Amino acid sequence: MGLFITFEGPEGSGKSTQARLLYERLQAMGYPVILTREPGGTRISELIRRILVDLRHTEMAPTTETLLFSAARAQLVSELVRPYLNTGGIVLCDRYADSTFAYQGYGLGRDLDELQAITTIATSGLQPDLTFYLDLDVEAGLQRKRSARDRVNEAKAAPNYTPPVEWNRLDARDLAYHQRVAAGFAELISNDPARWRQLSAEQPLETLAEAIYFAAEPFLERVPRLEPRR
Ligand SMILES: Nc1ncnc2c1ncn2[C@@H]1O[C@H](COP(=O)(O)OP(=O)(O)O)[C@@H](O)[C@H]1O
Ligand SMILES: [Mg+2]
Repeated sequence: MGLFITFEGPEGSGKSTQARLLYERLQAMGYPVILTREPGGTRISELIRRILVDLRHTEMAPTTETLLFSAARAQLVSELVRPYLNTGGIVLCDRYADSTFAYQGYGLGRDLDELQAITTIATSGLQPDLTFYLDLDVEAGLQRKRSARDRVNEAKAAPNYTPPVEWNRLDARDLAYHQRVAAGFAELISNDPARWRQLSAEQPLETLAEAIYFAAEPFLERVPRLEPRR
């Protein structure tokens, strides 16, 4: 029931941007749709996110990191994703379980079978119908994020300023780590090609948004639209 679409890719590849654009488009078309993110998306999961991204938490053990991501995911799936899919709606999620395999598995070297077991518990086996991989050179993505961070730092003087992009503990890991993650994603895609759509994130964001909508369109048939608003 419903339609579950996730966005994956390296830092700065435009996942959050594209997830929002697709969300706005589907909403304008009258589809029942929600946009959420990982880690986060519920009150409890957002609290766990704060622990995960805090730059001061340099002592966090890889096992702790893995279990916290999984705990945040378990709450998101049970509180928000499953119930919304059960009503027949569309859930768009900015990152999901594939990130655990890429970041904690390929990136940090955790055993993939173990991760699979933890993930199955956390998600009760829920898999996306469709996953976009926004493909961008690791250094180019980190550079995009860094320049966004610098713009944020310059603007911080303004009161009530909400940073559009955060720079966090996981972004700050070294280039070799981010490259292992990217290679990991490539392997995940080749293991399950039917679920993934790989698109170059170097295109202008409007062109990329069009390609994403085009790929999602055939899946929309199963989702009844809401009555048009008057
Ligand atoms: N297609 C694109 N071309 C150039 N810059 C982009 C593109 N998509 C997003 N950006 C910029 O790159 C930065 C990171 O985008 P974001 O959507 O936050 O990526 P992610 O969520 O994958 O980390 C932002 O400053 C955003 O404006
Ligand atoms: Mg993002």
